[in-house]
Amino acid sequence: MPAGEHIGVFDSGYGGLTILQEIVNVLPQYNYIYLGDNARAPYGSRSFEVVYQYTREAVHRLFDMGCRLVILACNTASAKALRTIQQVDLPALAPEKRVLGVIRPSVEALSRYSVNGHIGILATRGTVASESYPIEIEKLYGAGRFKITQLACPMWVPLVESNELTGAGTEYFVRKYLTQLFEQDAEIDTIVLGCTHYPLLRPLIARFVPPHVKIIGQGHIVADSLADYLVRHPEMEEKLGRGGHVSYYTTDNAGLFERMATVFMGHEIVCSSVQIC
Ligand code: DGL
Repeated sequence: MPAGEHIGVFDSGYGGLTILQEIVNVLPQYNYIYLGDNARAPYGSRSFEVVYQYTREAVHRLFDMGCRLVILACNTASAKALRTIQQVDLPALAPEKRVLGVIRPSVEALSRYSVNGHIGILATRGTVASESYPIEIEKLYGAGRFKITQLACPMWVPLVESNELTGAGTEYFVRKYLTQLFEQDAEIDTIVLGCTHYPLLRPLIARFVPPHVKIIGQGHIVADSLADYLVRHPEMEEKLGRGGHVSYYTTDNAGLFERMATVFMGHEIVCSSVQIC
């Protein structure tokens, strides 16, 4: 393991790789540890308590592996676990460490995209039910600035996890949810892909939305937000090791992770198995 402390990137499975890739593009100088809890994925339909427990265990594991800063590159974990980890776990266990999520930076970016204020949020059932996006949007912009329509797309994660990114079956489910979204608000001009798996369906999603609608993935937004965070927090930045090394860990089979990671990242990686509880 390279010297210095690392940035941990956590997801329930593969989806966070879409975030990691953009972070490494923007901040190639640091060392990263990616952890996918594939053995217990998906998180999207699990209860608040279970997602919190799993995420807390993963964060502790990443701290044990030498991470000083952990990005929850999973909307479901950010929605259901981040606040409690920040407010309860960190002060008691690791006050010098930090855990950041993907929802707040995505919400901060909204005003750069929407012209008419009509926003569609596509996410897992868990993220939608948590109301995290509408709550964060109201906190940041006040009530009434945006008209938010949320929709859970429960078939999209299994399709991506099965590498079914094209074909008639996938097209059916992509069109189905987008039709439902625009039936609820035909004026939507900005769609947030509020699940880290969804960017892999982006080419198909783009075919079924009106051409003027902006489709926002989170990778570059989270990467830019992390770069900004590190500028504002030199006490954190100076503790991070340099070298551009990325290590990959999964709680399930490493060979399977390596094969699927190629789909998500477009190049091969080497992965190891790890236990987190
Ligand atoms: N990566 C998760 C998210 O962004 C979705 C996958 C899951 O359900 O575990 O919400």
